Amino acid sequence: MVTGGGSGMGLEICRQLAARGDKVAVVDLSATAAEKAAAAIAESGGTAVGLRADVADRSAIDAAYVSVREQLGPIEILVTSAGLDEFCDFTEISAAQWDRMIAVNLTGTFNCLQATVPDMLAGGWGRIVTISSSSAQSGAKRMAHYVASKGGVIGITKALAVELAPSGVTVNTIPPGFIDTPMVRRAEDKGDVPDVNLIAKQTPVRRAGTPQDIAAAVVFLCSEEAGYITGQALNVNGGWYI
Ligand SMILES: NC(=O)c1ccc[n+]([C@@H]2O[C@H](COP(=O)([O-])OP(=O)(O)OC[C@H]3O[C@@H](n4cnc5c(N)ncnc54)[C@H](O)[C@@H]3O)[C@@H](O)[C@H]2O)c1
Repeated sequence: MVTGGGSGMGLEICRQLAARGDKVAVVDLSATAAEKAAAAIAESGGTAVGLRADVADRSAIDAAYVSVREQLGPIEILVTSAGLDEFCDFTEISAAQWDRMIAVNLTGTFNCLQATVPDMLAGGWGRIVTISSSSAQSGAKRMAHYVASKGGVIGITKALAVELAPSGVTVNTIPPGFIDTPMVRRAEDKGDVPDVNLIAKQTPVRRAGTPQDIAAAVVFLCSEEAGYITGQALNVNGGWYI
């Protein structure tokens, strides 16, 4: 199960998991994007279903899980990439903006974790990777609500890792640095972040991250071999010291 699998790093995570033989449920707010991603995987010989669900809507998530279990079986791997960004001066953030940010990025993660864990406990095996953000480690101006939501994602990941450690289920987070995805390009177009090429030059490895960089780390954390790694934040950020 990959949330936010219709675009950016979530889409590439779906592709890479499918390429190694996993059956993939692509969940996204956009039905078109989810179905397109699933169809592309099927065309390449993989198995995938695409479903529309808002991760902030618990009943929609529960319904999506029922459908995925019917079509693909119990959930063994969860990657939560669905997320919302927004840039706003701190004093201008409205209660509604705050609530929606927390609802999607943090409660949405909670909803999917809680819907997933019973399958993993029953099977005695599971791999969970949440996508947080390096901004929750460094801070980021005009993103207080986003940064707070992603700090919460790191926290729930660590708490759940400790709780599930004896059960064969690992829970880790990737706080990406600056990754060239549609989300970043939208922010660049609006002038909310500097030119992608400028940021690339300032990054220690001298390039922006790619969805492939994130997906490779996710696939590793979701492998059998990563079974001794849990409760960790794997910083895929091009070498920024945080
Ligand atoms: N791109 C970066 O530099 C960067 C850095 C740090 C963290 N992140 C995080 O990585 C994750 C993926 O971001 P991306 O850059 O691939 O962005 P993206 O916009 O390309 O993809 C995000 C996907 O999530 C889906 N989505 C949004 N809200 C949803 C909801 N309520 N329910 C279900 N699906 C929803 C969108 O439809 C989209 O397909 C996000 O959580 C983002 O906050 C991105």
